[in-house]
Amino acid sequence: MLLTMQGRPHIELERGRLAIGGIPAMALVERYGTPLYVTDVDRVVERYAEAKKALSSRHENVNVAFAYKANSTPGVVRALAREGAGATVVSEEGVRLARACGVRPRDVVIDGPSKSDEDLAAAVKAGVGMINAESVEEVLVIESVCASLGVRGRRVGFRVNFDIRAETHAGLATGGRSHKFGVAREEVVRFCEEYVPRLERVTIVGLHSHAGSQISDPGVFRTEAERLVELSEELRTSGVRIDEFNVGGGLGVSYDGGGGPPIGEYADATAGTFSRKGRGDARVVSELGRWIVADSTVLLTRVNYVKEAGGTSWALVDAGMNTFLRPALYGARHRVVAAHAADRTESDRAYDIGGPVCETTDTFGSGFRLGVQLARGDVVAVLDAGAYGSSMSSTYNMRPLPRTVFVAGGRARVSPAC
Ligand SMILES: Cc1ncc(COP(=O)(O)O)c(C=O)c1O
Repeated sequence: MLLTMQGRPHIELERGRLAIGGIPAMALVERYGTPLYVTDVDRVVERYAEAKKALSSRHENVNVAFAYKANSTPGVVRALAREGAGATVVSEEGVRLARACGVRPRDVVIDGPSKSDEDLAAAVKAGVGMINAESVEEVLVIESVCASLGVRGRRVGFRVNFDIRAETHAGLATGGRSHKFGVAREEVVRFCEEYVPRLERVTIVGLHSHAGSQISDPGVFRTEAERLVELSEELRTSGVRIDEFNVGGGLGVSYDGGGGPPIGEYADATAGTFSRKGRGDARVVSELGRWIVADSTVLLTRVNYVKEAGGTSWALVDAGMNTFLRPALYGARHRVVAAHAADRTESDRAYDIGGPVCETTDTFGSGFRLGVQLARGDVVAVLDAGAYGSSMSSTYNMRPLPRTVFVAGGRARVSPAC
């Protein structure tokens, strides 16, 4: 009998067997091959609804603008759009995808420290709800893009760099003063004093802060919200009326099977702070990505070879850093379990798990005990692979991009296009 995993109601596991959305992993592998991302869409929708409810109970006007970079599979973003989610995108293609999935233009936000003129033109043409500028020069470029398109009245915000150093992996921290992200607070003030009266085609109406990803301390989000409100008050003297506060994404999840930071505390630190500070009139945008999608997905990969090397037992699988980059890029440790083992005899043998790519960093980590002995043809599952998994995959080493299939209502299907 398979048992439901704690905190993962869509996953069932027993020694050497895994099912997701009620479908055995091996049935999916036989039908679709490996490496294979398998996403339970109901789980994605459930997490979105939880976030929306927590934020909306603390502030009236909230846009949960899902960060497409975390998972841009059309079926995922379309399911979220159907539930009313907004979209945070960082490129022309992101704008197109959000619109094709039915997200209203006013619920689309575009961010990014180095947007191309094409990215900006796509956002301007679509009339997105907010273009967050990451340099003062970018505001002037947006003006000129609007002029060349003959457009006025576009809504622009500043991503502010408050020099907030959040506790997270160095590669996921974005809020430090010398990072490439955002505009220093004092520069925003100076720009607004000098340039706002001269802007003809754009209006500065938004303030945004995103200090990093995989952050578990709600205090970071509270500090950001408080500073955003303070800054909006200071900008009033320049005639700037901020009507939208964006707290970025960044809420962390637990990759070791724990509960992770509670969404209620995040909602209180963000939406709750704006309400308490007398900004119940403003729109609050949350760009959650990871928190919504991380645990919805497993990555199934087949064991090609098992071998001993200098005292280490290697299980060499067909997914690599090209399929799932997080372990190689951030040293991220995901749980790996035996999704289908031919021999289910109990074993405490430990494995290092490596991929097919010719890089020493192409491993999922070391010392995995899967409860069984692995052999060629077995299937293992990397858990919580829904965020920054398929969206970061590449064809490095001339390998094909992995497929994603959805499971819902006991049935599986390939991700539909948008
Ligand atoms: C500006 C911005 N917003 C939102 C996100 C989404 O963050 P997360 O997936 O941690 O919620 C990111 C990711 O780094 C980001 O850079």
